[in-house]
Amino acid sequence: MNKEIVVSGIRPTGNLHLGNYMGAVKNFIKMQHEYNCYFFIADFHSLTTHPNPKDLHQNVKQVLAEYIACGIDPEACTIYIQSDLPEIAELYLLLNMHAYKGELERVTSFKEKAKSHPNNINAGLLTYPVLMAADILIHKALKVPVGKDQEQHLEMARTFGNRFNRIYNNELFPEPQAFNYGNQLVKVPGLQGGGKMSKSDGDNTVINLNDDDATVRKKIMKAVSDVSPTEPNSTPSQAVQNLFDLMTLVSNQEVISYYKTTFADCSIRYGDLKKQLAEDMALFISPIKQKIDEISGNDEMLGKIAKMGAEKARDSASKTIATAREMIGFTKFY
Ligand code: TRP
Repeated sequence: MNKEIVVSGIRPTGNLHLGNYMGAVKNFIKMQHEYNCYFFIADFHSLTTHPNPKDLHQNVKQVLAEYIACGIDPEACTIYIQSDLPEIAELYLLLNMHAYKGELERVTSFKEKAKSHPNNINAGLLTYPVLMAADILIHKALKVPVGKDQEQHLEMARTFGNRFNRIYNNELFPEPQAFNYGNQLVKVPGLQGGGKMSKSDGDNTVINLNDDDATVRKKIMKAVSDVSPTEPNSTPSQAVQNLFDLMTLVSNQEVISYYKTTFADCSIRYGDLKKQLAEDMALFISPIKQKIDEISGNDEMLGKIAKMGAEKARDSASKTIATAREMIGFTKFY
């Protein structure tokens, strides 16, 4: 049976947090059994910001360990490190010849990064969408699980794929579409009383999968709350709603109903709510953290997984690149 092909890249930026888990990893775990999934650690992409080689190496390994700990199964899907596939770099080169400066300069993420890092506007940053297109097209993916912020990049992947097909008169690349499990998007707020959980708001506003119990408790107890309601049945402030949203993710129904009732009748004590949330969150994180600890020290196992992933991924990538080479005229005559 031919399953549809799914490709998604994971940036090797330190530890995964609860938002990553609920928003992406949980979907990946489900998808790996229903589709032909290629998940990779995007270490080529991370070079745009010139990471220190030691940190880069460490981060790639840590992200791999955390994904495996969460339940990404290297037998069920193909999980690999991007830089293990020279075919991606080659396709990137080929696609670059038909990617125009004007269209690349209009990309929102490029404009934002160029503004925030005016001293490091390198060619890799400009052509980031071309590399991402190569990641996707190299496996002829149909489905790409990504968030809203990546939709423009995906649109460009379709543009570059279609353009290549048209110029060389061959239907090599299908059109990849954004893909998530429909409207099941869960809300994972941060602990700062504001928007969604994000590393960029500071380490104290996120629950990392790698946090130990004491750290989880401390972070939750410091989460922003509010003054107690004075009128029955009032609307919770954003900060309080956030605490309820986090409870929905990790606490049982009874506990949630109890605190909602005490909020409605104004008898709520946020200290108690946070204590309960801290316990439930610690219970949720602790088995994942335990697995991460087991796996992240096991270089032999991680090495085997990365090697197997690279072999499976190259199997698929080398077929695509062979056709692309033929199409452009790199035909062997010896
Ligand atoms: N650009 C994506 C991000 O920032 C990561 C990524 C790189 C990716 N290549 C990809 C995602 C290919 C999906 C498919 O999150």
